[in-house]
Amino acid sequence: MFDVLKIRQDFPILSREVNGKPLVYLDNGASAQKPQVVIDAVTRGYAEEYANVHRGLHYLSNLATDKYEAVRDVIARFLGAQDAQEIVYTTGTTMGINLVSYGWGIPNLQAGDEIILSVLEHHANIVPWHFLRERQGVVIKWVDCDATGALDPQAVIDAITPKTKLIAVTQMSNVTGTVVDVKSICHAAREHGVAVLVDGSQASVHMPVNVEDLGCDFYAITGHKLYGPSASGAIWIRKERMAQMQPFMGGGDMIREVSKDAITWNDAPMKFEAGTPGIVQQIGLGVALDYMMQQGMENIAAHEAGLRDYAMSKLAGLNWLQVQGTTPDKGAIFSFTMDGAGHAHDISTILDKKGVAVRAGQHCAEPLMTHMGLNATCRASFAMYNTTEEVDKLVEALELAHDLFA
Ligand code: ALA
Repeated sequence: MFDVLKIRQDFPILSREVNGKPLVYLDNGASAQKPQVVIDAVTRGYAEEYANVHRGLHYLSNLATDKYEAVRDVIARFLGAQDAQEIVYTTGTTMGINLVSYGWGIPNLQAGDEIILSVLEHHANIVPWHFLRERQGVVIKWVDCDATGALDPQAVIDAITPKTKLIAVTQMSNVTGTVVDVKSICHAAREHGVAVLVDGSQASVHMPVNVEDLGCDFYAITGHKLYGPSASGAIWIRKERMAQMQPFMGGGDMIREVSKDAITWNDAPMKFEAGTPGIVQQIGLGVALDYMMQQGMENIAAHEAGLRDYAMSKLAGLNWLQVQGTTPDKGAIFSFTMDGAGHAHDISTILDKKGVAVRAGQHCAEPLMTHMGLNATCRASFAMYNTTEEVDKLVEALELAHDLFA
């Protein structure tokens, strides 16, 4: 049974005030708040169970190693992966996608090879591919969304040519909330021998994910949006693709033997995890994912669908507000502009005075902003702990902002 009021009690920050008003936290697309179980796990990790991992033979090192390694199983369960050894730890989606760009792209792509991106991508799933364009002569091909923000999977499939090696696509836009039918894209890509990287930064927070069912090759997640610590995360990499990769960063843990004139690598996934990792962060991520799975990903998705529909109907009633991305197949993420408002930052500043936290700007998605013909938007992004009453508070604060601008 999904009880949003009970869930809210698990997140201590939600009961604080901001600017003398109860906090209405609607900046979850940027980063989510943490439940007490995660805060406790991080505190315990440092207060009682801390040592470096994979190195010691003493009690605390073994304890920390066991707890840290056990998170691979949790992530595998969360993503529907068959083998926890296909989970590579990262500091978030950005690192995961850079790992694929350097570790898989450099050895496998030649000048003239093509990577397909959608215009919905955020910079974490754009910039690492620009590295390959600039440094290796790889060609980036873009597929646009329509005026509602929807991305036609067939348009992505139609962009495949004999030169296409990779499709890198989000499963949910961080700006419009658009949900992309990545399963259809993966199915077609597989028939052409094209790899698919799915950026799961947003989707994994809001819907059940099963990488085997999707049929992708790489699936990147980021812990801080999943109610876990910042600088935690993972990327699932299909075994066959891992075998095609070279290590990305060099250092301790990822080697088997090092001499003055030779090195040999550790087995994957550690081959891709150089140096002392975010030990406590990953342990906290495991607790966060367990917490989500206890609530039930289907339940979270159903609750947020209710919030989306309620917010959409309320915002649609404001005839001076333009919601960017109206496709019905979307998550509870709303970017908008307002008649009379000078800049999105001005709207967010007024909302903040009412305790309502939203993001304003380009949302790390400049090509999408350009495609929409906008400099910036305000964005309200919802999470499992938000309520319809908070939608009402958002609307009240927007009405106040509109009155001030008028
Ligand atoms: N990509 C993150 C956002 O959507 C930071 O705000």
